[in-house]
Amino acid sequence: MNWGMKNRLSRLIQKDGHCLFLPIDHGYFQGPTTKLEKPGETVKPLLPYCDAIFVTKGVLRNCIDPNNTKPIILRVSGGTSVVGEDLANEGITTSIKEAVRLNASAVGLSIFVGSKYEHQTLLNLARLVDEAEEYGMPVMAVTAVGKEMEKRTARYLALCCRIAAELGARIVKTYWCENFEKVVEGCPVPVVMAGGPKVDTELEVFEFVYDGMQKGAIGVNLGRNVWKNEHPVAMIKALRSIIHEDATPKEANELFEGLKKGKKK
Ligand code: 5RP
Repeated sequence: MNWGMKNRLSRLIQKDGHCLFLPIDHGYFQGPTTKLEKPGETVKPLLPYCDAIFVTKGVLRNCIDPNNTKPIILRVSGGTSVVGEDLANEGITTSIKEAVRLNASAVGLSIFVGSKYEHQTLLNLARLVDEAEEYGMPVMAVTAVGKEMEKRTARYLALCCRIAAELGARIVKTYWCENFEKVVEGCPVPVVMAGGPKVDTELEVFEFVYDGMQKGAIGVNLGRNVWKNEHPVAMIKALRSIIHEDATPKEANELFEGLKKGKKK
């Protein structure tokens, strides 16, 4: 691995081998989705507690202070919208030259395995990897399911993650699922977990994150369940305790409740 690649990965994956990435890229197909109408304001209080943000070039340039930020994972796929025909019909939206100019630590792109656009999105990944590797830029593949959340099974996600790694992704982002160890075991590169739509209780989030970490995930790329929470700072601090301090779901929940009530710092 060349120095640039190693250095970029070490900015993202912390000394303990774990990471907490905060995605705020949802607007690239959802528009000004709730709580992300002003992404710069949403993310500001959360920045001290994440290890990187996942963001598009437009939001990065316009909403994030270049003097005070965390490593950037640049979302470089898109071209679809929630009102369009098919969310899977993505292309590459940003060049590696632009990613380098924006001082990105990695680029991220979605693949849609099993969809009508499987071939196209897998070739997007393969081409992006070839170009990115020339510049020592890691690619994070996102195993997207579009609107079909029921696809989140170990068998399907293991297939997606393995294909992403085979095509050269340096990190794979996928969903947590039952028997998550099967997903991690079949994937020769580090796996991080997305959160998915906001769930009812914080404890549910802490439980799946903890389970995934026990089964070999290196961390999360988790957005809505943080910034849609009424207490996003308490939420990200509690998640951090699981990812970087080995807290149990119960301990994380106690921390969350304490922070929420202002009893803990
Ligand atoms: C959106 C994404 C997000 O980065 C990913 O889904 C993680 O966010 P969340 O925890 O909200 O699911 O790829 O396109």
